[in-house]
Amino acid sequence: MRIVLLGAPGSGKGTQAKKLVERYNIPQISTGDLLREAVAAGSELGKRAKTAMDTGQLVSDDIVLGMIQERLAKPDAKSGFILDGFPRNIPQSQSLDAMLARVGQPIQLSLLVDVDNSVLLKRITGRRSCGSCGAIYNIYFSTPKVPGKCDKCGGTLQHRSDDNEDTVTNRLAVYEEQTAPLMSYYKAQGKLRTVAGVGSISEIFDKMCEVIEAQIRPLATAMKKISEATASAKKAAKAGNAKKAKPKKAAAKKKAAKKKVKKTAAKKTAKKKVKKKLVKKTAAKKKVAKKKTAKKKTAKKKTAKKKVKKKAKKKAAKKKVKKKAKKKAKKKAKRRR
Ligand code: AP5
Repeated sequence: MRIVLLGAPGSGKGTQAKKLVERYNIPQISTGDLLREAVAAGSELGKRAKTAMDTGQLVSDDIVLGMIQERLAKPDAKSGFILDGFPRNIPQSQSLDAMLARVGQPIQLSLLVDVDNSVLLKRITGRRSCGSCGAIYNIYFSTPKVPGKCDKCGGTLQHRSDDNEDTVTNRLAVYEEQTAPLMSYYKAQGKLRTVAGVGSISEIFDKMCEVIEAQIRPLATAMKKISEATASAKKAAKAGNAKKAKPKKAAAKKKAAKKKVKKTAAKKTAKKKVKKKLVKKTAAKKKVAKKKTAKKKTAKKKTAKKKVKKKAKKKAAKKKVKKKAKKKAKKKAKRRR
């Protein structure tokens, strides 16, 4: 992702660039920051740049282009970058194009943050930046929690030496004269997009991201939209299915309950059958047993009767024998007489 941020001094390029770094994980390359570092370091390059910066003029192209070339060669810029405050005139943009053409990595988007001049003065004079982490605040619009201290790292907030009304007027004039023509330059290449730089910082950021996604990653954006649409369609279908499934579930529950009732009824009848069978069996057994005992009884009776008869017969026989013996004895006695 290779982006150029265009916009007048104080339009919010630096503020938005820091947020884009977080979102897209690519470095912000600000020539203003690089020059201020060189000035703070007291390097030869910094000394040469300082006079131009203090008066709101542009630093010479050779210094700036040298710095940019060095910075773009660093590894973190290989996957993309956000250029903030560069290019500042047509020669710089032409040199940049040539530089990037050599590595086959042209600028993909030039994003203009458009803010009216009447707003810019208050934004610039009210700006305070953290000397440690570079976070940007404004004493009118985005104040830190503790005055003079950075919310993020506790560093001391500084007022830029070129953020005074005199220099700002010069900077705005230089912008109109030398930088504003870049709009036509990038428009001619079909790479210029504009976002209104008024409103909350996050609102502007969202608009910028929308443009970036649509311009640089149209396929990814289209795919995202498609996947979002299919996801929501799936969700809706799921919700519909769930609604339909509910009565189905209820019906299934009823069926299961009925089955249970049937099962328990079947079990009960089976138990009853078993009981009946048992009762029948025991009754049959009892009958058989009764019959047996009855038979036995009658048999016993019979044998008893037989025994009695036998005894009677024996008695009768004995009586007969006795009678015969008596008769014989009588006969004998008679004969003796
Ligand atoms: P540089 O540092 O690039 O300054 P600039 O281009 O003038 O831009 P600024 O940093 O002033 O504004 P910005 O758009 O980044 O706004 P910011 O986000 O900070 O250049 C400085 C000097 O270096 C130049 O004059 C020149 O001499 C030299 N130089 C740099 N690059 C050069 C090059 N390529 N060639 C030659 N010379 C070069 O916001 C400003 C304030 O507004 C902040 O306080 C912020 O909190 C506030 N703010 C931001 N957004 C909002 C919002 N939506 N609502 C309310 N407040 C907001």
